Amino acid sequence: MFQAPRGTQDVLPEEQPYWAAVEAQAKRLASLYGYRRMETPVFEDTGLYVRGVGEGTDIVEKEMYTFLDKGGDSLSLRPEYTAGIMRAYLEHGMHTRPQPVKVYSVGPIFRYERPQAGRLRQHTQFNVEAIGEADPALDVEIMSIAYQLYAGLGFQGLSYQLNSIGCPICRPRYVERLIEYYRPLLAGLCPECPRRLERNPLRVLDCKDERCQEVIAGAPRIDEVLCPECARHFELVLSYLDRLGRPYQLNHRLVRGLDYYTKTVFEVWAQGIGAQNALCGGGRYDGLAEALGGPPTPGVGFASGFERIILLMRQQELAVPAVPEPQVMIAPQGDEARAAAVSLVTALRNSGTGALLAFGERSLRAQLRQANRAGVRYVVILGPEEMAEGRATLRDMATGGQWSEPQSTLVDAIKTRVGDGRG
Ligand code: HAM
Repeated sequence: MFQAPRGTQDVLPEEQPYWAAVEAQAKRLASLYGYRRMETPVFEDTGLYVRGVGEGTDIVEKEMYTFLDKGGDSLSLRPEYTAGIMRAYLEHGMHTRPQPVKVYSVGPIFRYERPQAGRLRQHTQFNVEAIGEADPALDVEIMSIAYQLYAGLGFQGLSYQLNSIGCPICRPRYVERLIEYYRPLLAGLCPECPRRLERNPLRVLDCKDERCQEVIAGAPRIDEVLCPECARHFELVLSYLDRLGRPYQLNHRLVRGLDYYTKTVFEVWAQGIGAQNALCGGGRYDGLAEALGGPPTPGVGFASGFERIILLMRQQELAVPAVPEPQVMIAPQGDEARAAAVSLVTALRNSGTGALLAFGERSLRAQLRQANRAGVRYVVILGPEEMAEGRATLRDMATGGQWSEPQSTLVDAIKTRVGDGRG
């Protein structure tokens, strides 16, 4: 027997209420804020991610699903949306449109990670980007969408983890300081950190190994060396958040795992959820367009994984509205009744009333059991007697009450009882 590949999951029908609730909330907010949907291919040129996300990142070094296609080109399943969206922005000359270009996407993302709760090899992202504008108010707009998404789903105790990681002017100064500070301490670190310091120095701040915690605590902070422009940008972001009364914690260890970030980086955490389970992550990426060979183009965005949101909704026992289901089942007995039932169920659906047909040659008892399991409120019984009289028996499954209706007015009679028939 085959099983779903490690780190992937099937989404069964009973989980749909969660998916529908998250998707509805995401799309409602996107439209409220003026973001339109945009989709890019599920695979791209591998070089796009090497240049965009960064050669020394875990994503590019260890986690990409990379393959040669039959023409010999190296392609990768997308390990994130942002690089592909920026590629499309440049390719379609979207700088000629009103700026910022505000778009969102919903689709699968692939990373070869060690699977654990909330960490999969295929997950689904709600990704939001605003490209072509450097205003710090746009950072806060993006951050607000993320916050409202979770608040609207019922999460409590939400707050931002927030940092600025500077720009190509101030960050090299900081990296120098960091390396200077770390150099004499290398012997006492975990085996990974000396390598990080070489390949991707900011990532040492993100190390979870016990041995590194004390060293990290004493490390220089980037906010001490931000250039005036970055410092001003960050100040404005904080002041707008203060104005909105949104809680945030400054976290100078928040550096994120993708190289394209500049200035603002953030995550949203909910009560009882730590860094391992950040609900989302995002930030500004003013250098990405240039890294891809385009003109300087600022941008800011975030992404959030559906599976992780849903896992945490379940853990926190957040309620979701039921997805409407048909409230009527037609139960025919005999060939003549079955033919009439096929017409009736079609007429009901055509009139906008959800309805089910009891398939197969089962006894009435078995059909009623089936209706019970399907959770429908009404059963329309069409037996030989009913057919002879041109009538149908309606049964209310909640009360057990039954009555007779003429077949000619059945659609209207049912419609009156169940409204749109979908609960
Ligand atoms: P990221 O932090 O790598 O950022 O991923 C964003 C979100 O995707 C995470 O917070 C989490 O909800 C979800 N996620 C990531 N990896 C997994 C996984 N293995 N399993 C389940 N869920 C996962 C980015 O991808 C950036 N492109 C976000 C961005 C957009 N920055 C600017 N614009």
